[in-house]
Amino acid sequence: MPHSLIKRSRVVLPEFIARRLERDYYKDLKLGLTGKKDPRERLEAILPLVQRAAGRSVLDLGCAEGLMLQPFLANGARFVHGVDESARRIQSARRRVGSGNSRFDVVDLNFPANIRDRRIFRESYNIVLFLGIYQHLDKHVRERSLSLALSMASEWFAIRCPRPLFDGAMRLITNQGFAIEDCISGGGNGRLAICKRME
Ligand SMILES: C[S@@+](CC[C@H](N)C(=O)[O-])C[C@H]1O[C@@H](n2cnc3c(N)ncnc32)[C@H](O)[C@@H]1O
Repeated sequence: MPHSLIKRSRVVLPEFIARRLERDYYKDLKLGLTGKKDPRERLEAILPLVQRAAGRSVLDLGCAEGLMLQPFLANGARFVHGVDESARRIQSARRRVGSGNSRFDVVDLNFPANIRDRRIFRESYNIVLFLGIYQHLDKHVRERSLSLALSMASEWFAIRCPRPLFDGAMRLITNQGFAIEDCISGGGNGRLAICKRME
């Protein structure tokens, strides 16, 4: 079934049926995940942040099954929080990565009010991951959502998005007080930047 139909089905079908129609994002057969993306490749680019995990809080926006957060926990993160619009992926994340110092929520980031909802999100996190999500957001709200995501990052912000959107996103990020620490090819036609808050 096409992804756009699955997306619409989330609105009209009971959650447990919509969940069955959705697919895994990551592929890790040991964990029973049958998606397409190798989590090890995804992780490589953000290792400089994983190395800074100790004692820090981490938010992953569009976390899929939450596998990027596991290494942060293993490296001493004090709290990790993942959100995704897919109930299936969030259920997987809770089962596979969930621990006393983690939280996973189904959240649609196309609604900026959700990102401002303090019943869901903390006011700030030391590290915010915004990986492979920008291009999926509605073009009328994506800058607002990015801006709110930036406002929650007290130290570090990582973004990966396709090249055509990258320069615009980086302008917004630097205008909001971040400096680019590292910028690499993010696989395919994407770029990934690790940014540090300067003020
Ligand atoms: C390309 S995947 C990236 C997954 C992970 N961040 C990574 O880089 O490995 C995009 C993820 O964003 C989620 N997503 C797409 N649109 C979303 C929305 N409006 N709100 C929340 N999550 C969304 C998808 O369900 C998917 O898990």
